Amino acid sequence: MSRLVVVSNRVGPIRDSARAGGLAVAIVDALKRRGGLWFGWSGQVTEEGTHGRLKTEEAGRISLATIDIDQSDYETFYAGYANRTLWPVFHYRLDLARFDRDLLRGYWSVNERFAARLFPLLGPDDTVWVHDYHFMPLAAKLRAMGAKHPIGFFLHIPFPVPEVLASLPRWHDLMRAMLAYDLIGFQTERDRQAFVRYFLEEEGGSFDGEWLEVNGRRVRVGVFPVGIDPQAFRRFAASPEAERQEQRMRQVLGDRLQLIGVDRLDYSKGIVQRFEAFGRLLEQYPENLNRVTLLQVAPPSRSDVEAYADIREGLERFAGHLNGLYADIDWTPIRLIVRAFQRRALAGIFRASRVGLVTPLRDGMNLVAKEYVAAQDDADPGVLVLSRFAGAAEALDGALLVNPYDTDGTAEMLQRAVTMPLEERRDRWRRMFEVIERDSAENWWTSYMTALRASR
Ligand code: G6P
Repeated sequence: MSRLVVVSNRVGPIRDSARAGGLAVAIVDALKRRGGLWFGWSGQVTEEGTHGRLKTEEAGRISLATIDIDQSDYETFYAGYANRTLWPVFHYRLDLARFDRDLLRGYWSVNERFAARLFPLLGPDDTVWVHDYHFMPLAAKLRAMGAKHPIGFFLHIPFPVPEVLASLPRWHDLMRAMLAYDLIGFQTERDRQAFVRYFLEEEGGSFDGEWLEVNGRRVRVGVFPVGIDPQAFRRFAASPEAERQEQRMRQVLGDRLQLIGVDRLDYSKGIVQRFEAFGRLLEQYPENLNRVTLLQVAPPSRSDVEAYADIREGLERFAGHLNGLYADIDWTPIRLIVRAFQRRALAGIFRASRVGLVTPLRDGMNLVAKEYVAAQDDADPGVLVLSRFAGAAEALDGALLVNPYDTDGTAEMLQRAVTMPLEERRDRWRRMFEVIERDSAENWWTSYMTALRASR
């Protein structure tokens, strides 16, 4: 039997979760429909680490298989090279990146050990699909062990231009290892171009728009914008739990308008810049005082990495400052909630919010943008304000696009969003919803799988 074998650092949860990560949402859809094995980290740190027992679990047509890592792997691989080096570099934050040979060694060594644990689980007809920046060298390690399977890779986060990538010590090794894949997928054309440019400029490769050829090796490179299941999310938005949340929200709001942001507490999400733009909106357009309010939901993330530790404090400080400046007895300009919500509850909150704020400084795709749109009531939909640096901006032309570094420009766009007439809101929403239906999660994985099959 030919199975789909998915590899990603985080495995599950299979059922809808409090965690707001986009990667799981998309992968679950593929696995549920095709059946197969999902392999990755258990989320546990133990003494045996990768040498410990393989933990397995059956969930319908999906089998889960996970292994632990040890403390040193956690520090050098997960909280190290993956999230202190690759994440900031790929999000253009060289100022936050740490370059350290120990972290680099840990990363390659965990990739090798994960490959060694995965290899014996593979059947002869399996297709392997590796996800995200944690496991870029995994195929090279599997090939070295003799794997002949079709192996694909998909990067969920942005891919930087070679000028930025070059800041990684031993970047050539990482990039050459990628040639062990049969298909490499990116979220946007911009990411694909950046990736290919490396091989053209540094390795004398050639590219015909689909196939990359480097030293006699051919690899297919494609663009597959990740999506959501729009109908399922609309059902969430119509669920009793969503309705309850929506009613609660509307009661609190009265006739005020709400702007909503939902992001992992991550510096790449531009939350501080968003708060500043909201402050500028109140300052420049005082008619919004006591009339609009910003709700920011921000579940904590990677809090043992320094660059993440101060984000929360900065936001609390700014919200406190702005609230002190403008709040009234019955109105608080910014409400910050530092925890995760279930997706049904979020759908209700989205529906009660006139404006969705998705303003990352860099983002692979950003599925919150798509979920906000899917949750809207089509008779009276809200407006999406979207950063031009989110992958989602490549296709969602019904959004109001902003440059999140430009506080005044963003404030102007916010003003446009809160005053947009119903007709225009409807028109923009229809255009966006069409795109979200076209670029659905199902479309994402089926077109990826088709391309992977054709790349052999
Ligand atoms: C992003 C990445 C995922 C990651 C998720 C949550 O969406 O693309 O690979 O799983 O963030 O981050 P965490 O470090 O908690 O896994």
